[in-house]
Amino acid sequence: MVKLPYTLWIEGDRVLTWDQRLLPFREEVIELSTWQQAAHAIRSMQVRGAPLIGVTAAFGVALGLRELAGSGHLESSTSAQTGLDEICASLMATRPTAVNLAWGVNQVRNAVAQARPADWARVAWARALDLHAADAQCNADIGKHGLIAWEALIDRAKGEARPLQILTHCNAGALATVAWGTALAPVYQAHQQGIAVHVWVDETRPRNQGASLTAWELARAGVPHTVIADNAGGLLMMRGQVDLVIVGCDRVAANGDVVNKIGTYLKALAAQAHQIAFWVACPISTIDRDTPGGMQVEIEERPASEVEQMHGLVEDQGSALYQQIVGVRVVPVGSAVLNPAFDITPAALVSGLITERGTIPATGEAIRRVLALEAA
Ligand code: MRU
Repeated sequence: MVKLPYTLWIEGDRVLTWDQRLLPFREEVIELSTWQQAAHAIRSMQVRGAPLIGVTAAFGVALGLRELAGSGHLESSTSAQTGLDEICASLMATRPTAVNLAWGVNQVRNAVAQARPADWARVAWARALDLHAADAQCNADIGKHGLIAWEALIDRAKGEARPLQILTHCNAGALATVAWGTALAPVYQAHQQGIAVHVWVDETRPRNQGASLTAWELARAGVPHTVIADNAGGLLMMRGQVDLVIVGCDRVAANGDVVNKIGTYLKALAAQAHQIAFWVACPISTIDRDTPGGMQVEIEERPASEVEQMHGLVEDQGSALYQQIVGVRVVPVGSAVLNPAFDITPAALVSGLITERGTIPATGEAIRRVLALEAA
């Protein structure tokens, strides 16, 4: 049985989560008690991953409205509206690429728009709780549809008496969502059903979400996995050691282009060259109907220090920093550095989008159809 804790959980009226910057070395729980703390958690990447960012932002709005209620600012419609607008704008400005952030904020904003300001705090909290529950269910459904999409490959691996070999990039697992994850949801379900799987985990420089986070959660769940350097995937594909690639995503454009962690595009190109399926798992909330193609998505540029340094645990017992998490410089001082955090995988390289409503082709037409169903 796969055992994974929720990544963000509620105790009474408290919002709790892991500080992901410290994983896998320290398992530290943090409480988000103000909207500013929620915004800080997203900006500093204590929480990260598109769906988790969306739910955290939703709770951020709810926490902000709770504060406004406490300070009497919800008593007049004007001050209530000004306060709400400020909180929403600040949360939305934390990270630019994942569309789930604006989606989470707008879900709560639209819910309170139907209510009197005096009820906003209660309504916002209830809506954030709904989104929290819905994310876990959505991921379970993505897991189910993923297994259906993989059926033929699972049968082939079974027939050859070997595990299904899956390659993934970054972390689109439980830690990127409320629970289960998107790309890893089918992996966990397969493991739970006794289907033999093995995951190649791209380390995912510069922040190493694969090596630190994906490996941590797969290990906790007992799923066999191997961490590889980002550049190893092509060789493994060439040698026939990869049955399929699956990644999550931060935004799907209206034409099916996929924006995900930097390096995803190269894996998609390699997969195409070797006729290996390249799946993208995403909740429908990750589809952005207002952005025509991937090139129109704002790609977050992160600090040069993430490329200049690597972070890890000091294991040298003789060091004064023994067991401390430290950054070490790996780039000469003075060299220019560029750090785009995401890239664009053209729709043509994507075998399909695995959503909570089923697997659809990465095409404008299929996307329009699924969005219409969602709106109905
Ligand atoms: O910069 P991050 O760690 O927030 O990037 C995360 C990713 O790129 C994930 O693949 C994506 O958000 C999908 S999470 C289900």
